[in-house]
Amino acid sequence: MTRVFSGVKPTGHLTLGNYLGAMRQWAGVDQHRADALFCIVDLHALTVEHDPARVRRLSRQAATLLLASELDPELCTVFVQSHVDEHARLSYLLECVATDGEMRRMIQYKEKAARERGRGGSVRLSLLTYPVLMAADILAYGTDEVPVGDDQAQHVELARDLAVRFNQRYGHTFVVPRATLPPVSARVMNLQEPTSKMGKSDDSGPGIVYLLDEPEVVRKKVMRAVTDSGTEVVYDRESRPGVANLLEILAACSGGDPERLCDGYASYGALKKDVAQAVVEALRPVQARHRELCADPAYVEGVLRDGAEKARGMARPTVDAAYRAIGLLPPVSEPESGPAAGAGSGAAPGAAR
Ligand code: AMP
Ligand code: TRP
Repeated sequence: MTRVFSGVKPTGHLTLGNYLGAMRQWAGVDQHRADALFCIVDLHALTVEHDPARVRRLSRQAATLLLASELDPELCTVFVQSHVDEHARLSYLLECVATDGEMRRMIQYKEKAARERGRGGSVRLSLLTYPVLMAADILAYGTDEVPVGDDQAQHVELARDLAVRFNQRYGHTFVVPRATLPPVSARVMNLQEPTSKMGKSDDSGPGIVYLLDEPEVVRKKVMRAVTDSGTEVVYDRESRPGVANLLEILAACSGGDPERLCDGYASYGALKKDVAQAVVEALRPVQARHRELCADPAYVEGVLRDGAEKARGMARPTVDAAYRAIGLLPPVSEPESGPAAGAGSGAAPGAAR
């Protein structure tokens, strides 16, 4: 069965971009057709300045929202990255396979580092090495497919490169993964700044629809979305990015094709009204289920506990194999006490391969 792995960072409240670009595909398609793992990648939230209490709160909220978006723990594995040591264990080995030039070429690193320096801050080393940890997340599970938005395509490409390189140098250890992008809304743009991604860590609230925004707030944000000069509703990402974004959101929420949907609108106002309604309807069931789950925190905790245990069992053999392949001496297991152990064999020869 195809193995699928994806993750979400608890760096801010989840957005419509996360939902349309990733979560909806995970719940609607991936968990049904594949052996899928979905991870709250909390270690990745520490790569930029963070507030410990907030990361904890957002991790819990992200887990609750993943379940609210209909991920079913009977069908897939939902867990928190830091609960499974194998991610960090494997990351170090992959750092010994990756090069610093490769890391410095990552677009997201360049952008985030420049932003951080622009604010006069310092750049954490973990921001540079973060794509290696992401590769470890993916490779530890023998992942075939990584469903992500297109901003993550370069990171998945790196995971592929590292898998191939490791396998060539040290013998076949990892499955070589590939990214799978959703058909529409691979990139939902900020409503106020339609040339940049609707990202949850950005602080420009009015252009971001959060999954837990009340319907009235959603409507207000959509109605105030920046549109382009001109009045005709046409689908053209280059010259009319604001309208194109609205058409793509509409297509993603209520079906159809943005190229054709524009024919039905004579004005931006009418389009915005329908987009607002479509988004409110898309979020309604998620918000209702989120409220139910908040009333039952023990359920969410149980899912995360079971998920981590299952994930650990899946990752361990691959990560152990990588430790052996790269040349690390296996730990010698304790000789068993009792007469049989004293009878000469000591540690099983297999354990000291
Ligand atoms: P992140 O918010 O960076 O943790 O991303 C979690 C998942 O959501 C990743 O697969 C991203 O590619 C996807 N994602 C985040 N923001 C957007 C967006 N604005 N449009 C489409 N997909 C997104
Ligand atoms: N880097 C991803 C993001 O910012 C999150 C992530 C971490 C991830 N590890 C992953 C996604 C592994 C897919 C697979 O969105």
